Amino acid sequence: MPEIEIVKGVYSVGAIDWDRTIFDELIPLPEGTSYNAYLIKGSEKTALIDTVDPTKTGALLANLKKAGVERIDYIVASHAEQDHSGSIPVVLEAYPDAVVVTNAKCKGFLTDLLHIPEEKFVEVKDGEELSLGDKTLRFLFTPWVHWPETMSTYLVEDKILFTCDFFGSHLATSKLFAEDHHDVYTGAKRYYAEIMMPFRSIVKKNLSIVEELDVNIIAPSHGPLYRNPEFIINAYKDWVSDDTIENMAVIGYVSMHGSTRIMADRLASSLIEKGVHVHLFNLVTGDIGEFAMSLVDAATLIIATPTVLSGPHPAALGATYLANALRPKMKFFGVIGSYGWGGRTADILNGTLTLKVEKLEPLLIKGLPNEDGLKMVDGLAETIKQKHIEARIMK
Ligand code: FEO
Repeated sequence: MPEIEIVKGVYSVGAIDWDRTIFDELIPLPEGTSYNAYLIKGSEKTALIDTVDPTKTGALLANLKKAGVERIDYIVASHAEQDHSGSIPVVLEAYPDAVVVTNAKCKGFLTDLLHIPEEKFVEVKDGEELSLGDKTLRFLFTPWVHWPETMSTYLVEDKILFTCDFFGSHLATSKLFAEDHHDVYTGAKRYYAEIMMPFRSIVKKNLSIVEELDVNIIAPSHGPLYRNPEFIINAYKDWVSDDTIENMAVIGYVSMHGSTRIMADRLASSLIEKGVHVHLFNLVTGDIGEFAMSLVDAATLIIATPTVLSGPHPAALGATYLANALRPKMKFFGVIGSYGWGGRTADILNGTLTLKVEKLEPLLIKGLPNEDGLKMVDGLAETIKQKHIEARIMK
């Protein structure tokens, strides 16, 4: 993101990464991302909130130069993950008067990950303030969004809340603000699903910290900023809420020779006929981020897999493991598929998923499903419908 004034004395100086296609070697980035860093020029001191991924250090340094920055007093480290902290060592070299302002836990991580020397740190506590002269930074601990050390910084006079990953979206755009909320909603939801959903209950607590503040602008470390914070706060409230669960079954499927696909298709059409929404997802070729996003609100997850070498297809096992790790608010889980001569497919998948959900009776059919087998699939669809009705997810 080129240097841009957000309000007087506050600048966006981070970098847009148009080309990045995957994050953590796990999360697909269909729209790239940005690493937002913010420069705050007070009447006496200058602070930089976070840095950028080490691959973009040059862009950050160029933006600081363009902004005429000769001295940085404080580098605020909101989060130790390297896409925000990774350029701190180079910035410290370029601006030798700077010290790193962070909490004790983040300091520990930065020491381990970047070998920043002890004397370069200033440790702050929750609620502590730091004066830049006519601007004041207040540090608010918002842990587990998504590491244990994460904190936000509130710029008191301008009412800007810098939230780092919290409220972020992997979206490469030259637009500073999220003006068109339709554009950013999906990216923000995808980001929530992949990064924040496992910490849903703590995210709820952090939302109440944010709601107690008078905030004009939310400035995350990925994607655009929010000039009307209610939009993203309300979206998050929806996503974390146990009350907003959708009458939806996600069917993640793998099929080697078509038999399991026939079962997955039949289950999908039968559920749709019965009034249950469906998201059918190919676990081999699909975008796993989309799968994660579909789990944010869905009531049921069905994994459809053939039996391979006595167990589930690895892609089905991976998706089940991922669903387990993401801790969505779903209520029901089931396994269907075709097998050749036996195996432990359902046991392995049910054992992998340790969430507090109701596990439906597995439906495994030998070979190509015949008409009786397909009627059993219809029976499973009816069971899912009834479960949704009993759970008051469907009328
Ligand atoms: Fe954007 Fe957790 O780093």
